[in-house]
This record gives sequence, structure tokens and C-alpha cells, in this order.
Amino acid sequence: MKILVTGGAGYIGSIVTEYLIEAGHEVVIVDNLSTGHREAVDERATFHHGDLLDGDFIRGVLGDGIEAVCHFAAFSLVSESVADPLKYYRNNIGGAVSLVGAMAETGVEHFLFSSTAAVYGEPDETPITEDAPLRPVNAYGNTKLAIERLLADSAGAWGLKSLSLRYFNAAGASRLHGEDHDPETHLIPIILGVVLGVRTELIVYGDDYDTPDGTCIRDYIHVKDLATAHVLALERLAAGVTGAVNLGNGQGFSVLDVVRAAGEVTGREIPYRIGPRRPGDPPILVASSRRAEELLGWERAQPGIETIIEDAYQWHRTYPHGYGS
Ligand code: UFG
Repeated sequence: MKILVTGGAGYIGSIVTEYLIEAGHEVVIVDNLSTGHREAVDERATFHHGDLLDGDFIRGVLGDGIEAVCHFAAFSLVSESVADPLKYYRNNIGGAVSLVGAMAETGVEHFLFSSTAAVYGEPDETPITEDAPLRPVNAYGNTKLAIERLLADSAGAWGLKSLSLRYFNAAGASRLHGEDHDPETHLIPIILGVVLGVRTELIVYGDDYDTPDGTCIRDYIHVKDLATAHVLALERLAAGVTGAVNLGNGQGFSVLDVVRAAGEVTGREIPYRIGPRRPGDPPILVASSRRAEELLGWERAQPGIETIIEDAYQWHRTYPHGYGS
């Protein structure tokens, strides 16, 4: 299939591109490089440097034989979205509206959407199923939920077929690509930055949550398993499966569990200090992945937190300062 990957120069987009190409698909990438990296663009893909908000540009790309779209391009920092919601509404919702509009005009009907556990907010029950109430607690989650609703409305209006993949905590690296955000806010790369001496300290954001050790619990899912899920999801989408699917491991680790596991993997003591809570952080987010297993036939190959950290460590050792290293 000829697939458009928006945000293919970003962390998850670059790794999904790698897996799509290895599964035999032809990939066209669109990225404005506002947060992505030119070096992360797979050399086997066709690359267009441009912005989704530019309707003529995106219609031109879609009109050149695209059969399905994987949409990753978005801002994705929860704390930044709390401080500057307009930035998120403009870019995330604006970009999706422009893209879906261009799809309607060019007759491209299949859409795989990079959604998030943040659409659930602070869930009443764990593990979280897809039927849990959708009540985001930050602007980032609100923008992703608004896009999910746009997709559902577009299905009714003109027959768009979409699958929204709600990622829990993507982590790890692939053979070719890893995580390089500026600023970096994610736990595992920050811990590894401390191990590699490129960061001075790790602050644990709050130890007074209602969890066994007081720190937040998350469901860390290997980015390679996420990539496999996208390849399967595209096949299922073509076969008529639509809706929303969680992608997680179904297992929760506290911040201090991750610090300990990273200490074991790297053989280093990881110094940290306890700081205040970070605004917008729900205490526990753990997925039920049953629907993904049933609908997509998804099996996770590397569920262990140690493997996730080990693969991330290998990438960060090669690129201690990110892609520019
Ligand atoms: N954390 C720290 N110190 C740090 C960085 C993170 O203690 O320096 C903690 C956070 O408070 C959180 C946990 O580590 O409890 C994980 O934080 P991340 O920033 O790695 O990931 P988040 O859980 O905040 O974010 C993920 C996804 C988002 C999604 C969000 C849902 O990356 O896309 O889950 O809340 F929106």
C-alpha cells in the first residue's frame, strides 16, 4: 500500500515508518520538522517538508496515489499544553482538520490516528478499557479527543474509515531510531541522560499519590510493539475494522520501579530527588489491551520494562545528545 505518514521525522512516526517499509509498504512522509529531525527520516521513504495547515500542499501529496494515512504529526507535551493550550488547539486540531478535509477532497478514506491514554483523564477503574469515560484533564488530551470525534463525525458524513490507537507510555528504541525531544520531559530518556552524564539530575514529580510507593504508575509499552500494532491496524482497517484501541502492556510501573529497573539495566546507581507534583499527571494509567489483541491479533514481543530500558539505553549511548550527536 502507498501510505502517507505525517510526523514521520518524530519518535513514533519514524519507527512506524521503519516497520511499514519492512512490511513491504511504500511510505511518503510529511513533516514540518518543528519537533522532528531530518536525520530520523527513513531514506527509503519519500520526504516532503511541509505543513499540514497548507491545504494545497497536503492535497497535492494525497492526490499522488496515497491509499491510507497514518497521522502522528502533533505537539505532545502534556505540561506545555497546560501552559499554552492555544498552541495545541491551533496545531493539533488545525492540522487534523486540514488533513481530513484534504482526504475528503481527494477521496482517501483510510486513517490511522495516533491517539493517547490522555483521553481518559483520571479513570475510575484500572486496567482502562476503551469504554471508560473520556474526560481528559489537560489540553493535549482534549485536542486528541476532539480529533477522535472529528473522525467519527467524518465517518457518518462521507465514509472516512479510521482507527484511533490510544498509546500508553511509548518507550524504547528500534534498530534505527530513538527518542529525541527538545525539551525532553519523558521519564526514561531523562533517567538515561543522568546515567550518561548529559543531565545533572532526576526529579521525581511527587511521592504523595495514592499508590503503593506514592509515585505515579504508568504502563510502558515498547515502541517496537507499537510499530507492529500499526502494521496490523492498517490491514484490519482495510478489512473494515474501525473505532478506538488501547495500546499498552497491561502492567503498571511506578516512577521508582522504573528508576530501580534502569539501575539494574545500566549497572549504575541513579540519584534522584523528590519534587512537587507535575500539573496534569494522573496517578495511575494502565491499559487493558484485550481489544487490541482481539481486533488486531496483536501480540507484544518485548513486554519487559528491562528490554524497553535496554533498547533505549543502547540508542542513547550512540546518540547521547540526540540525533545531532
Ligand atoms: N516523571 C518524573 N520525572 C521526570 C519525568 C517524568 O517523575 O523527570 C514522572 C511523571 O510525573 C509521570 C511518569 O514519570 O508520573 C511518566 O512521565 P512521562 O513524562 O514519561 O510520561 P507521561 O505519563 O506524562 O506521558 C504519557 C505520554 C503522553 C500522554 C500521557 C497521559 O507520553 O502522550 O502519558 O497522561 F498524554
